[in-house]
Amino acid sequence: MHDLLDSVTQIKLLRKYLKIKVLEDNIRFRDHKSERDHVYNLISRSILHGESHSALIIGPRGSGKTTLINSVLHQIASEADLANDAIIVKLNGFIHQDDKIALKSITAQMQLENAVGDRVFGTFAENLNFLLNCLMSGVDRKCKSMVFILEEFDMFCHSGRTQTLLYNLFDITHSKQAPMCVLGTTNRIDVMEMLEKRVKSRFSHRHIFLFPNENQTDAEKSPLETCKQMFVQYLSMPLSLAKKNVTETPNKRKGRRSVVNIEKMDIDTEDTLYAIPEEVLTRCKVDSRQFQSLEYGFIESWNAHIQSIVKDQKLIDCLEKFCYYTINEQLFKDVLFQIVSKLSPSKPYMEINDISSIIDNAVAPEHRVKLLQSLSILELSLVIAIMHGMQIFDGQPMNFEMVLHRYTKFSNTNSSNQTVPRPVVLKAFEHLQELEIIMPVKNTDSIYNTDTTTGRVQKEYKLFALAVPVEDIKEAVKGFKALPTEINHWFNNSVL
Ligand SMILES: Nc1ncnc2c1ncn2[C@@H]1O[C@H](COP(=O)(O)OP(=O)(O)O)[C@@H](O)[C@H]1O
Ligand SMILES: [Mg+2]
Repeated sequence: MHDLLDSVTQIKLLRKYLKIKVLEDNIRFRDHKSERDHVYNLISRSILHGESHSALIIGPRGSGKTTLINSVLHQIASEADLANDAIIVKLNGFIHQDDKIALKSITAQMQLENAVGDRVFGTFAENLNFLLNCLMSGVDRKCKSMVFILEEFDMFCHSGRTQTLLYNLFDITHSKQAPMCVLGTTNRIDVMEMLEKRVKSRFSHRHIFLFPNENQTDAEKSPLETCKQMFVQYLSMPLSLAKKNVTETPNKRKGRRSVVNIEKMDIDTEDTLYAIPEEVLTRCKVDSRQFQSLEYGFIESWNAHIQSIVKDQKLIDCLEKFCYYTINEQLFKDVLFQIVSKLSPSKPYMEINDISSIIDNAVAPEHRVKLLQSLSILELSLVIAIMHGMQIFDGQPMNFEMVLHRYTKFSNTNSSNQTVPRPVVLKAFEHLQELEIIMPVKNTDSIYNTDTTTGRVQKEYKLFALAVPVEDIKEAVKGFKALPTEINHWFNNSVL
């Protein structure tokens, strides 16, 4: 009875630990060393030497942009007196699109609500200047360094509204009025083209790219290998949690000492790799002592379970499917979380079938198919035109003119189709961009390769690639309501 009770608490503790690890650790950052160093340099130089900098961190969703910044700030917090030397303001383009809301949040994060009081300001710049002046206090009127983190940076540059916030922030970094570091994160590679001229000219043009699996030169580190490694790393438990009651085996002779040390070192690094950083536990208000009641043997056999399951071909197949579908680590962590949640006293080990169905659910293409089916006939036709074009030209991206050309060729051969005016087609094309069914790609043409010139490419000539798998388009066409037969026919015959 006692044993049973104990195994119940053991598995519950383990589940709790793994859940926290998967959900809450936003401090530790792997790989991308040079990019991280770059960001570290910018922020620390702003804080320690009062320099002003600006940079954009660009990478797909879930590639670790936010985590990179968190890990850098966390490191700097341990090296410098952040509370006294700097003010960190975090804004998010999804929330603070409106300048007034942004200013309110800035004021609150600077803890200047009292100083502002009922004051009314004429312009955004006046208001911001007032805030900065408030900060210049003390005898030497030295300003604290400001670090602005603008998440979803592209959302701050919505057309139709002036980019006052960006202009004012970049203006300060540019004119070096006050020590300030402005860092934006975005998943839009074409973000520079969205900036107003006056904003652009004040930006440092520092771009830091984060692409998953990019810097890995050795062939061993295929996406699947990385995925397997992450699986092991996130789900393994650190042995150091348990009080080790199995003491060192006494029969190790002196001559083998060095070997023992090496083994011990390996275990230590593994342990820190598998453990949740202490700061994360503190932030979650979790008392780490509770995990001490985990038993050494229990953790050992759990880790052995992970090691063996990751060698199982069925699991490898599942992981491979997932890698093929996405590189978004956040989605992978969501899957891991569901796997961990399935653990229970009656089911203390993971089962491949469960994992497989969780992954199948995660990669289910249904929502993309639905999205495609919600398109207008014209929009769907453009998707088909792009798909054909990319099939013919080996996956080369296409611009609007090329798509229009293919589409016109098709509609001309079909007398029943009315000709659609060009602006309407362009509008439909832009809608596909908004829905992220097509995505802008980097201009690989060497003349256009620098960032200053891409801005000059007219929108009709910007290159796009399909962002949905062809299988989904197939699926969508199959179930499309009231799809004209000739479009169905066209879809199946790319020669047209
Ligand atoms: N290089 C990395 N090191 C550690 N964790 C990472 C890394 N890349 C992504 N992640 C994890 O993936 C998830 C998404 O990362 P996040 O920083 O939010 O991505 P982004 O801000 O680029 O959308 C986070 O939970 C993070 O822990
Ligand atoms: Mg982010």
